[in-house]
Amino acid sequence: MSNPDTILVTGGAGFIGSHTVVELLQAGYAVVALDNFANAKPSVISRICTLAGRDFTFVEGDVRDPGCMAALFRDHPIQTVIHFAGLKAVGESTRVPLTYYQNNVTGTLNLLEAMRGAGCRNLVFSSSATVYGDPAEVPIREDSPLSATNPYGRSKLMIEEICRDLAKSEPGWRIALLRYFNPVGAHPSGLLGEDPQGVPNNLMPYLLQVASGHRPHLEVFGQDYPTPDGTGVRDYLHVVDLALGHLAALKALPRIEGAIPINLGTGRGYSVLEMIQAMEKVMGHPIPWQFGPRRPGDIALCYANPDRAHTMLGWRAERDLMAMCSDGLTWIKSNSSLNSALA
Ligand code: NAD
Ligand code: UFG
Repeated sequence: MSNPDTILVTGGAGFIGSHTVVELLQAGYAVVALDNFANAKPSVISRICTLAGRDFTFVEGDVRDPGCMAALFRDHPIQTVIHFAGLKAVGESTRVPLTYYQNNVTGTLNLLEAMRGAGCRNLVFSSSATVYGDPAEVPIREDSPLSATNPYGRSKLMIEEICRDLAKSEPGWRIALLRYFNPVGAHPSGLLGEDPQGVPNNLMPYLLQVASGHRPHLEVFGQDYPTPDGTGVRDYLHVVDLALGHLAALKALPRIEGAIPINLGTGRGYSVLEMIQAMEKVMGHPIPWQFGPRRPGDIALCYANPDRAHTMLGWRAERDLMAMCSDGLTWIKSNSSLNSALA
């Protein structure tokens, strides 16, 4: 193996984490992955090994447990952490905010304390385009104003601030705050993908369940946004491209000083209607949908200026909308017994 570095991946059994662990293993890194299975299934671990053709260390544990975090650094020679673990449902975060702050903020504090204790100061953090709130202009640059409109978004903003304060307080911290836009799709093998519990909140998983005949129709939230066709526009990004963005960030960390935000998006926005059309093209037949009211809290337009990711990380998204739809479809068709909502 060409690169012997050991990477701790928290939330390594989740949607983005599992894809990233596969790419890390294939690139030769040693991986220690942690997950409490709050939003993932144990079967993901063997699937990762199958895809990578290699084994890795998996620890079932919780970032909220300081003892568990300290033990990870005591037991393994961890050089860098990729921190995915956390809760991510915006609506749920408004109902149980303390649970979100505990998992996301306290969990990250525990992780940072354990890293400090072990002298590990290299971190790649899963932030989100949600930290831009309702952006004043698109494409969104990293120096755009930050705001949050719900506890989930506020937890990401708080963690970013904590990382900035920490990096200012002592030299040596190298932190990439990766602000993801809208990750979609699945591993082309059909072995890894997103497995939302209950009714999906997000467009792509819902669209896939309609496309595969598991739900009768899609409701398009709003038709009067100030966008070309009146529906919301987002920057959808293939999860494999996103995983590769983490590898690019790992390689760039030695050149990063302090805590630097970096957008991970394609730079291209698609409307809800364009997403339906793309899925219909892949399917070869129409998909039932109807207009409904706007979803409270939704914004009209959100897409990235991805220039910093290119200049600092040498990374660009390469997979197109057709790949996002067809890989998502392969995943849902081959896993209808695994998927929580369909089981
Ligand atoms: P996910 O829910 O699939 O993965 C998160 C993983 O963390 C899950 O496997 C879950 O079981 C685990 N986890 C949760 N709380 C934990 C805890 N206390 N201790 C240990 N493990 C815990 O979500 P994802 O889509 O892979 O997102 C990964 C990260 O990226 C999250 O931090 C999320 O907020 C962020 N993010 C996701 C999106 C998106 O649209 N998917 C967009 C922007 C940012
Ligand atoms: N939409 C529908 N019908 C649906 C679901 C969504 O029309 O059934 C529309 C939404 O109104 C929006 C677009 O599809 O215009 C995308 O919605 P998603 O819920 O898929 O994505 P969001 O951009 O609203 O939110 C996502 C994550 C947030 C994260 C944000 C920015 O869910 O956690 O991206 O990264 F903060």
